[in-house]
Amino acid sequence: MTSATVPSNRSGMIHQEYHNLGTNRAADRAAPLATINDDGGMVELVTPRLLLRRWRDDDVAAMAMINADREVMRWIGDGSVVDYAQTAAEIAAFEQVWQMRGFGRFAVEIRGTGVLAGFTGMAIPADIPEIMPCVEIGWRLGREHWGRGLATEAAKAALGFAFADCRLDRILGIHVVGNDASARVMVKLGMRFDRETTELGYGRPVHVYVIDRYEIQPSRPACRRRPD
Ligand SMILES: CC(C)(COP(=O)(O)OP(=O)(O)OC[C@H]1O[C@@H](n2cnc3c(N)ncnc32)[C@H](O)[C@@H]1OP(=O)(O)O)[C@@H](O)C(=O)NCCC(=O)NCCS
Repeated sequence: MTSATVPSNRSGMIHQEYHNLGTNRAADRAAPLATINDDGGMVELVTPRLLLRRWRDDDVAAMAMINADREVMRWIGDGSVVDYAQTAAEIAAFEQVWQMRGFGRFAVEIRGTGVLAGFTGMAIPADIPEIMPCVEIGWRLGREHWGRGLATEAAKAALGFAFADCRLDRILGIHVVGNDASARVMVKLGMRFDRETTELGYGRPVHVYVIDRYEIQPSRPACRRRPD
């Protein structure tokens, strides 16, 4: 498995278009157009409704509100809500992965509003040794944003970035058994069920899904560089 590091100091604009991720539903054919504005390491992906970007200090309060919702946190960790300080630590950890790996969890913003909807993107899951080494993709949105296809739209762009830019070969999805909305997002992304196992931390059964780079068929030029 590759865990390539994306160069962080490329100059100019890189314009990238991601097509669908292996499925053929009408909704998937209207695949997000993602633009990477990689200026000094600040990767941004733009989809029709969303901006995926690196984290800012002023995201902590908005993410803490999302993490304070018991329904949002139901299938995460031991199901406890997460407070402001824990949210700040979580975001700092996301940024640390970005700095070390060249990928990570994106802050997901509703375009044109500046509203932080939550996150999606890549992480290294440490609590399931039998699937390591690996990179997983995850998502968490505020409840008011559920049910509109936003998690799938955001994750599609993040997956495209992971495969096309980071040249990762395989991405896993992991959800606690019973988190059917998350399972559905994995299926909509074209991921396939791999196994049921148990996470070490809380001993809960989890389902592991997988998608490989070769399963994604970009129908447009993968990458072209705009003149400065
Ligand atoms: C999981 C989550 C990100 C999904 O966000 P979303 O924007 O609503 O996702 P989408 O709209 O892209 O897709 C959700 C799909 O699950 C389906 N779904 C929602 N709730 C469901 C349920 N209880 N059972 C089965 N399917 C469900 C939706 O109908 C939709 O499928 P469809 O498009 O075929 O109708 C959101 O629910 C969330 O943030 N949950 C809390 C955090 C979390 O659990 N994260 C995942 C940890 S593994």
